[in-house]
Amino acid sequence: MNILIIGGAGYIGSHVTRELLDRNHRAVVFDNLSSGLRENLFPEAVFIHGDILRYEQLTAAMQESGAEAAVYLAAFKAVGESMIKPEKYSVNNIVGTINLLNAACKTGLKYVIFSSSAAVYGEPAYLPIDEKHPANPENYYGFTKLEIEQFLAWYDRLKGLRYASLRYFNAAGYDVKGRIKGLEQNPANLLPVIMETACGMRAELEIFGDDYDTPDGSCIRDYIHVSDLAAAHVLALEYIVQNNKSITVNLGSEAGSSVLEVLETARRITGRPIPSRIAGRRPGDPAKLTASAGLARSLLGWKAEHSDLETLVRTSWEAYQKNLSRK
Ligand code: UD1
Repeated sequence: MNILIIGGAGYIGSHVTRELLDRNHRAVVFDNLSSGLRENLFPEAVFIHGDILRYEQLTAAMQESGAEAAVYLAAFKAVGESMIKPEKYSVNNIVGTINLLNAACKTGLKYVIFSSSAAVYGEPAYLPIDEKHPANPENYYGFTKLEIEQFLAWYDRLKGLRYASLRYFNAAGYDVKGRIKGLEQNPANLLPVIMETACGMRAELEIFGDDYDTPDGSCIRDYIHVSDLAAAHVLALEYIVQNNKSITVNLGSEAGSSVLEVLETARRITGRPIPSRIAGRRPGDPAKLTASAGLARSLLGWKAEHSDLETLVRTSWEAYQKNLSRK
């Protein structure tokens, strides 16, 4: 198929683009390079430098590329920032979505794969979290993701647009074949922060709380390898096209790892000391989050294959070492 990847030069977008190309799809990357990187572009994919907030640019990209489907990854995702600057998240995430949906209607693009998030669920009422869990986002970022899902559902009903909303848990790791060149800039997520500390780009890792009700006192999350996420995008696209039906599914490994476990694994694999300090709890952090990915398994035949801690840390470390040795 002919697919427009909006945000295709970013961390997850570049992995999804690589996977689409590997599966013989025609990929056109649309990115404003605000956080995406030129080094993440592949020569086999056409690149259009454009902004989702510029409706005419987006419409032209859809028309010129003849895209039948869009993968929509161009959203801001810093949870903390979203609570301080909601305006920024409203414009980029919500207005961007409206532009995308209206451009899709105008150009006849019929399928959208959307990067949603476990942040739509909020504080867990039970674990593991399945798709029937109530959606009560605790931060503005999660609220925008839930709103976008509702826009998609309305356009499905009113305009026949078909979508897959993929609720990622904690995305981490780098391409298992080492083909992604760029590193995420100014990361706030745990594993890249640990990697930057291992490389000496940061003095220490702050551990946000060691007094949670978990076996070692640090928070537990469900880390999912970005190569597993990328594979799910392609399977989800095939599913909605074949079945002419929209879906909303969790993407997680179903395993829980604590902050201290991730740190210890990173110390072992990198052989670096990775200094750390126990800092206070970060507001809004649930003690434990794990996914039920049964629906993705049964609908898409998907399962996480690279999401063990060892592979998550090893592929990240390889990407950091390779990137830094080039500079
Ligand atoms: C959050 C969102 C997730 C979103 C992701 C994107 C929720 C519930 N989850 O994940 O949907 O996709 O952000 O950014 O809103 N930690 C440290 N020190 C650090 C960084 C993190 O101890 O320097 C700890 C955190 O307290 C947490 C774990 O590491 O327990 C993972 O944190 P992070 O990588 O920021 O992701 P989430 O907040 O879980």
